Amino acid sequence: MQPHHRTDISNVLVIGSGGAGLRAAIAAHDAGCEVTIVGKRLRKDAHTVLASGGINAALATRDEEDHWGWHVMDTWNEGYFVADAEKVGILAREAPDRVRELAEWGMPFARTEDGDIDTRYFGAHRYRRTAYAGDWTGRAIVETLHDQVAARGIPIREQRYVSRLLVHDGVCFGAYTFDLDTGERTVELADSVILAAGGHTRLWRRSSSRRDENNGDGMSLALHAGCELQDLELVQYHPTGMTHPEEHAGQLVTEAVRGEGGRLFNSEGERFMERYDPERMELSTRDRVAMANYTEIHEGRGGPNGGVFLDISHLGKDAIREKLPRMHRQFVEIQMIDIGEEPIEVAPTAHYSMGGVHVDARTAATGVEGLYAVGEIAAGLHGANRLGGNSLAETVVFGKRAGEAAAERSRSLDVQLRNRAVITAAAEELDAAIRDGETVVRQVQRGLRDAMWNHVGVVRDEDGLNAALERLDELAQEAETVDVRPDAQGYGDLAIALDLRGSIEAARATTLLARERRESRGAHARTDHPDRDDDHHLVNYTVRLGQDGELIVGSRPRKPIPEDLEEWAKEADEELEAGDKLIE
Ligand code: FUM
Repeated sequence: MQPHHRTDISNVLVIGSGGAGLRAAIAAHDAGCEVTIVGKRLRKDAHTVLASGGINAALATRDEEDHWGWHVMDTWNEGYFVADAEKVGILAREAPDRVRELAEWGMPFARTEDGDIDTRYFGAHRYRRTAYAGDWTGRAIVETLHDQVAARGIPIREQRYVSRLLVHDGVCFGAYTFDLDTGERTVELADSVILAAGGHTRLWRRSSSRRDENNGDGMSLALHAGCELQDLELVQYHPTGMTHPEEHAGQLVTEAVRGEGGRLFNSEGERFMERYDPERMELSTRDRVAMANYTEIHEGRGGPNGGVFLDISHLGKDAIREKLPRMHRQFVEIQMIDIGEEPIEVAPTAHYSMGGVHVDARTAATGVEGLYAVGEIAAGLHGANRLGGNSLAETVVFGKRAGEAAAERSRSLDVQLRNRAVITAAAEELDAAIRDGETVVRQVQRGLRDAMWNHVGVVRDEDGLNAALERLDELAQEAETVDVRPDAQGYGDLAIALDLRGSIEAARATTLLARERRESRGAHARTDHPDRDDDHHLVNYTVRLGQDGELIVGSRPRKPIPEDLEEWAKEADEELEAGDKLIE
């Protein structure tokens, strides 16, 4: 019997309608391709809208000494030397053009008195290079890119779930999808597929992502397509998430609060960053501030809601309403607190996946022909600690590159590949996932998030990681018995069950790599291996799927630093402080 589904054909299929996906779609369209975007959420509501504080580019509009080379150096040093230096160089060089392009497309950036794009401080940047639109920069980027997508007539199929990437003989030729409301299935055929499906930080109980996003489902799609993933253990905990009420615990309190002068205090009234990083204080690197907050709370100097105190009230209400309008509103609406009058409680929250799919720095190509990965799902740029503001820059810089590369591949093909058996297998897999069962899927999901938070969280050790792996085995068994039946609310249950399958896989891969990295580096803090160990771990840990579906862990040496960056570093050497070198 033939499975029931519609078929759509485009040159380039983009999976994900956040900043990276939209920018990639624009580039592929402008290179002459027919493009389709599919997204799980409603248009204009992808995770990018939650990115608040800004987008990095060495524009030198506030600090004229800034230069793309300094942006390279800050990114590289603060990533603890395991980033892909070529990617870092591309980002720093191209971000200014991409930011100016956004401004030309109508993005409402804050401006200096002279009318230039304004920039502010974010943690661990030596100059002000974070351009912003209040504290809703991500939303403004999505709106701006969306207008460009609409002007080009690029279709966005929203609320579409991708259950499989279609791959035959190592070549990706599309994706199998269903509509979250009606269950209608569509085979999306394409010459090139761009995966821009986000990360996996919703695997942790406290997360700055919303309920059904960043579940690691994109990573699982990539694994099953044959991609290699890397650095999954390198997870960024943002120092400042909300502490309460429980349904908002983990929600982001933007770094812009500290960028605009916010100070951290413990319950004893001590400005404790003096003990952790007396020079940079609250604008130290995210890993350091997160660890400081964690330590203060863990050692009993936290507040009544399990956080430390962040105070921006000295800035004054007018400035707060201008620079941090969303934060002001968020706390009034959720906690009935005016941040212009009193401090707020904050605690670390899982925020960003620095690892993901291994990609080519220039083209975003994965190891699977015809498949590209971009945005949070792609690895390489951030190393072991991401600088705030670099992720939004990544979406537009590498989005454009991925779109162009995908278009070039499409143009080079004479025929479009499709394989009926692969499509039929994807359809049957979906049929099999709908079944009566005894377990409620959210219950298993909760167990997973608790296990990751408790054992693979801000601090880790071998025993905890092994305990997590055991628990993940139990949860995988429970996941086999979940009840999945479409109901009046549509096919949401099916999507959550598929997410869960992907989440367990991503969680297991993350835990295995966290166990492998027997050292502490950036956001990866091992209490049983507290020091950085460059002799053994200047590598990227990798994972891929074996023939029988098992996870195979490996490693590859960190990529060499390109010559042009070495040249720049030599020139800059004289200006550098001791120990602050591009080449360690
Ligand atoms: O704190 C923030 O506004 C987050 C920005 C980022 O993660 O880049």
